Amino acid sequence: LKSIAVMTSGGDSPGMNAAARAVVRTALHQGAEVWGINNGYKGLLKDDIVKLESRSVGDIIQRGGTFLGTARCSEFTTPEGRQKAFEVLKKRGIEGLVVIGGDGSLTGAKLLNDLGMPVVGLPGTIDNDVWGTDYTIGSDTAANTIVDAINKLRDTASAHRRIIIIEVMGRKSGWLAMTAGIAGGAEQILVPEVRNNLDIVCQELKESYDKGKRYSIVVVAEGYGCAVEIGKKVAEVTGIDTRVSVLGHIQRGGSPSVEDRIKASMLGERAASALIAGISNVLFGFDAGKIVTIDLTNAVNNKKTLDPELARLAKILA
Ligand code: F6P
Repeated sequence: LKSIAVMTSGGDSPGMNAAARAVVRTALHQGAEVWGINNGYKGLLKDDIVKLESRSVGDIIQRGGTFLGTARCSEFTTPEGRQKAFEVLKKRGIEGLVVIGGDGSLTGAKLLNDLGMPVVGLPGTIDNDVWGTDYTIGSDTAANTIVDAINKLRDTASAHRRIIIIEVMGRKSGWLAMTAGIAGGAEQILVPEVRNNLDIVCQELKESYDKGKRYSIVVVAEGYGCAVEIGKKVAEVTGIDTRVSVLGHIQRGGSPSVEDRIKASMLGERAASALIAGISNVLFGFDAGKIVTIDLTNAVNNKKTLDPELARLAKILA
């Protein structure tokens, strides 16, 4: 293909810029022209598309967010919306598209591919919940942001001998909570994939406090439940002074980690090269440190599960 486009869609994640930059520079390196679609599918439907040059993606590798902008778009979920999007691309002479986003965005990408527009997907979400890849762009930075927050919350939890409950993002996935919880040394990690009994959690927290533990950190995945409610129950049952911290969108921002910059760059290069070579309806991801090609249809039709090894490790180390 000689003319491709790139877009970011859904929740932004640190490293999306590195991926888009790699798509642009690879395409130009191979003599193709490359377009940027602003604000995801919403922008596509509005024909909000700009030609990108090498300098358009200068000074962005270190930035979180996405220079293209992103959005969640309900119109694109309808067949009429997708047909309109297809026609916008055709009219522009765009022959293929790289979509960087999470589950919902990749489902949209697959449906656009079904209409006859060659699409390659890249997993971009802090949640790390895309099937077929053990890595998604932004998940490493977000996990590090959470660990940094846990480190800080430990200081104050210890000073007051409190239990601190931290709610983290991840949608239906417990990956962020589990990974950051282990790395942050949390006493309890509550994820939707493992239905811990809250009464037992309270009992364990109380027992360790009675044995002299100064404080406890409990990480709760948003998909498990509401930390404020859990905090109320923990305080009631244990009688221990408890505080709740909902980290929120701070987890989505910040300068991407080295891992996110490198992996996103590798994925962006691969996506542009594949698309230009005529490969489509695939998702590129990582498996055990190596880039893998995943059928896009399989990626969006399957649900990723949390590695049970992580839950086992967390239990032993707590
Ligand atoms: O999918 C990324 C994510 O940050 C989830 O972890 C979270 O549930 C959701 O997006 C929040 O979405 P929004 O930014 O639209 O509130």
